[in-house]
Amino acid sequence: MKKVDSEVKSFLGIKSLDEDHDAIFNYIEQLQALVNEPKNHEYAIGILERLLAFFLAHVIKEEQQLQQYLPTNIVKEHILQHQDELDYLDESIISLKVKISSNNIQTIVDQLNQEFKNHIYRYDRNIMQKIIKIQNSKH
Ligand SMILES: [Fe+2]
Ligand SMILES: [Fe+2]
Repeated sequence: MKKVDSEVKSFLGIKSLDEDHDAIFNYIEQLQALVNEPKNHEYAIGILERLLAFFLAHVIKEEQQLQQYLPTNIVKEHILQHQDELDYLDESIISLKVKISSNNIQTIVDQLNQEFKNHIYRYDRNIMQKIIKIQNSKH
């Protein structure tokens, strides 16, 4: 019974990480929508700040899952990748505070899309598959 409980919990954990991933792309879409609305450009900073807070909460959850199942070296490597994304978000906020324009927002949107597609579809997906494999092998 206990085993089933922990499997269900872990499945729900992975499902909730996936929902977070969708939400991250949703923030990027909101930013994209602002590019052609000069009157609303100032909202771009708020969206990025919320994305940063959301991503920070997400990586804490994700890293807890990883620590539960994967070897330390893989976890450490992935934590460094999270740090890179957080740094990039920080730098983007600073650069928008210095100068806000359609061009700047578009550049950030393009780079965020590239960063997060790579991170989520490649590295996170790979890691989730590893976790699922480990869980299945325990049956
Ligand atoms: Fe993630
Ligand atoms: Fe990740």
